[in-house]
Amino acid sequence: MSASIKNICCIGAGYVGGPTMSVIADNCPDIQINIVDINKDRIDLWNSDNLTDLPVYEPGLDKIIERCRNRNLHFSINLEKNIAAADMIFISVNTPTKTKGIGAGKAIDLKWVESSARQIAKFAKGYTIIVEKSTLPIRTAETIKKILVSSETNPENQINKSQSFDILSNPEFLAEGSAIKDLQNPDRILIGGENQNAIKALKEIYINWVDESKILLSNLWSSELSKLIANAFLAQRISSINTVSALCERTGADISEVALAIGTDRRIGKYFLETGPGFGGSCFKKDILNLTYICQYYGLKEVANYWEEVIKINSWQKKRITNIVIEKLFGTVSEKKIAILGFAFKGNTNDTREAPAIDICKELLEEECNLIIYDPRVNPNQISIDLESPSIPISRLSEMKGKWAFSKSVIEASKDADAIIILTEWEEFETLDWSLISKQMRSPSWVFDTRSIANLNEAKSFGLNTWRIGNG
Ligand code: NAD
Ligand code: UGA
Repeated sequence: MSASIKNICCIGAGYVGGPTMSVIADNCPDIQINIVDINKDRIDLWNSDNLTDLPVYEPGLDKIIERCRNRNLHFSINLEKNIAAADMIFISVNTPTKTKGIGAGKAIDLKWVESSARQIAKFAKGYTIIVEKSTLPIRTAETIKKILVSSETNPENQINKSQSFDILSNPEFLAEGSAIKDLQNPDRILIGGENQNAIKALKEIYINWVDESKILLSNLWSSELSKLIANAFLAQRISSINTVSALCERTGADISEVALAIGTDRRIGKYFLETGPGFGGSCFKKDILNLTYICQYYGLKEVANYWEEVIKINSWQKKRITNIVIEKLFGTVSEKKIAILGFAFKGNTNDTREAPAIDICKELLEEECNLIIYDPRVNPNQISIDLESPSIPISRLSEMKGKWAFSKSVIEASKDADAIIILTEWEEFETLDWSLISKQMRSPSWVFDTRSIANLNEAKSFGLNTWRIGNG
């Protein structure tokens, strides 16, 4: 059990803050954990009686919330009270790419991190350990420190609150869709910092369920940088295998056989070799852009260019898929109907941030194609926001051009469709009823499987034309 930490505050109740704190609460019943956010709607959803309304869908999360909520896990908009009560504060806020000003399109917008640091400076009392959980550009701890030190040295604060701080970096490596599993059984926990007592306090929390040998200690800057590099390496593998998928389609090789053949070499390893429609998610692109920005800042142009290619290949892969669909449908999709199966950026999540489906659907809509979109977890309002286009009732779609409708089932979505494109690897797409689907599509009908998940041999046996990524 933790020697000293009794009260944690986490700023940011998002995809990381919510699941991460839930797992700490579950494993450390003696620590009170308050997750705070400026977004009241989000906090209300975390407090919802109906667990299907939680703002984040992650397998296993609802059970933990049920066990811990209002016991030692609390969701609130009261930053002042919860920051003041905490002896450890996690900063788990969003760190998107800057859209304006210096570094726009590449650098990280630290606005939310800075505002968190200012709130901590304003409300914290006594000694507080600050933990960077968000993914941050290298040396961000320096910025946070400057804000906190100016508060520490303010005589007024010392009289009222006797503030002092230590800062640690503790990046999060969970992947969405498997967040709870990843948090319960992490490959490693990385803690970067200078103050040994602060490091010990954080380590003692993790030791409640993580083997000590998995806890890696480093200096602050190595820890901050390692997170960016881990994401860059993972994304690089996906871009690499995606380039090979194109080569396989031209040559008669099969990407799944090639991935197995290379992945069984222990030096290469079998993970992250699944070809697909391009990587999505809120982090890979923004973290690599940030890495290239940092390299450029330090005058390392060649290093920046190297990593930038990973993103360029990702955009190319999405465009390549759209082009293949159009080509197979006789060079035009105007006024044709295509069923899109899966909109989330990967299976087992309701998150659509940077989902390849967004770019692919936008391009098809631009070509005046009508889309019927089905995803078992994504909210249709989110799709409207992502596509910057309102949905139309399915019954009216055939009168339209370049519009989309939301469907509640695969069968409904495929009715009268010229093609089906599978964009997310939802488990239910493994066992689609091709006999039924084939009867209601318009001939000649196509299935494009960008996730290598569907039983295309069966689809073919019912007369459908099929295309699988990396196989053709
Ligand atoms: P998110 O957008 O889901 O959640 C961030 C939350 O912080 C939002 O609800 C926002 O309202 C809140 N917030 C922002 N400023 C605040 C403030 N000053 N006070 C209180 N609340 C504030 O983001 P996320 O996906 O949870 O990511 C958070 C960080 O973790 C990012 O740096 C991201 O790169 C990193 N990360 C994300 C993942 C992932 O899978 N999503 C995994 C590892 C690391
Ligand atoms: C990724 C990393 O895996 C996490 O370690 C990291 O903590 C997180 O980013 C982050 O910093 O946000 P996440 O984006 O949630 O996690 O999900 P991944 O499983 O990495 O998938 C990312 C994208 O790559 C998805 O679109 C997925 O479909 C795609 N992908 C993944 C492939 O196309 N092929 C693969 O073999 C693996």
